[in-house]
Amino acid sequence: MVSTLGTPPSVKSVSPNQSLQPLTSRVNSQGHLEIGGCDVVELVRQFGSPLYILDEWTLRQACRLYRDTWARCYPGQSQVLYATKAWNCLAICALALQEGLGLDVASGGELYTALQAGARGEELYLHGNAKSAEELAMALEVGCTLVADSLYELQQVAALVTPERPARLLVRVNPGIDVHTHEYIRTGQTDSKFGIGQWQLPEVFDFLAAHPQLHCVGLHAHIGSQIFDLQGHRDLAGVLAQIWRQGLDRGLPLQELNVGGGLGIRYVESDDPPSIPEWVEAVATAVRQSFTAAGLPLPKVLCEPGRSVIGPAAVTAYTLGGQKRIPPSEDLPEGRLYVTIDGGMSDNPRPITYGARYTALLANRPEAEATQRVTVAGKHCESGDVLLKDVLLPNPAPGDVLVVLATGAYNYSMASNYNRFPRPAAVLVNQGEVQLILRRETYADLIRQDILPERLQR
Ligand code: LLP
Repeated sequence: MVSTLGTPPSVKSVSPNQSLQPLTSRVNSQGHLEIGGCDVVELVRQFGSPLYILDEWTLRQACRLYRDTWARCYPGQSQVLYATKAWNCLAICALALQEGLGLDVASGGELYTALQAGARGEELYLHGNAKSAEELAMALEVGCTLVADSLYELQQVAALVTPERPARLLVRVNPGIDVHTHEYIRTGQTDSKFGIGQWQLPEVFDFLAAHPQLHCVGLHAHIGSQIFDLQGHRDLAGVLAQIWRQGLDRGLPLQELNVGGGLGIRYVESDDPPSIPEWVEAVATAVRQSFTAAGLPLPKVLCEPGRSVIGPAAVTAYTLGGQKRIPPSEDLPEGRLYVTIDGGMSDNPRPITYGARYTALLANRPEAEATQRVTVAGKHCESGDVLLKDVLLPNPAPGDVLVVLATGAYNYSMASNYNRFPRPAAVLVNQGEVQLILRRETYADLIRQDILPERLQR
């Protein structure tokens, strides 16, 4: 695991998801880590810590690589959607839209945020295996495409549509494809809560054929997340071509094929994901070949990456606190040095949830030799609140600024107020400019929804 910064990657040739650091990372003349032209130590001084720091250039580069590779290597039409579940807030929705991406939203809350960021209905796709009637009505109202996950949902939608307000939808199928990733983030296997099983599709297609106000314009599938092997996506294209044929035979006006997201990113040196262009080329080729072999016209292809768009673009900066040394013993021959940070599982629940591993360095001396083996402990009242186990840092001391890399995806979006910690602020950095995009929560925010009944007041 690398703990010093090393040579910054060439910003032109690296696919963001293969880089441990944001693409603009470098060491400045102060000997500090700089991202987006901003000194990370200064950012912490100005905005406090923990602090999410988002590099605009890296984010835009990931969007462009997806968009431009599809345009270059797929002969039909294509559209990239950003899966906002990875990190949904106004500024990020607006950035993705500015790059020409549509938005995948997974709840009424994500849909609301996307709309507030200026998204139009035709740019939005709503997911969910258990959408509420309220969420469905909200989506229909604004002309958002529904990604229908069950016959029950289609029945609910049929009751809500009117001739003036028809539904535009994709059918989410369960392709029965199992991929190698953490059990909690696999979605395409037959035993999954997601997607309509192939055995039920004839009934669903008949229902759709009988309800023409439900405009079923395509199919959707998503096989999982943090995937490095391209084979699952190749297999998916073949399965979807067969189902497409069945849908056409039932008279459905299919045009859009949404192949989901799932491309993994590099969290630690040993991670070796395919690049964004390699992923797009593999999927585009597989769709072209499968549809051509089945004698089908090429569909418009949509994909919806989240992690590989936003993950590598952000880091989290913490201030180091006290330390605790466990002396060597028979069970622990080298002992252990715990260093504490001013955040933890409430701003990054991935280590405790999935055993996720990360890479870290010190922003105030990124080039110092990393010789000290440490375990980085969060400040929550929970033993499992450990962000990094056994990583090398250069003799960390209280007050040092620790930067955990590649925290853009599923960190802020899964952050909580556990132990009543206010959630961190987030800043957007670009060419030496810094912009606050999420205010740090205050203690007052924490009790904003609390009600103290009069009889309990003292
Ligand atoms: N489309 C659908 C229908 C999805 O369920 C997901 C992710 C995506 C797209 C985006 O996948 P991505 O490109 O980000 O892999 N909280 C977990 C990840 C959960 C993924 C949920 N679905 C984590 O922190 O690893």
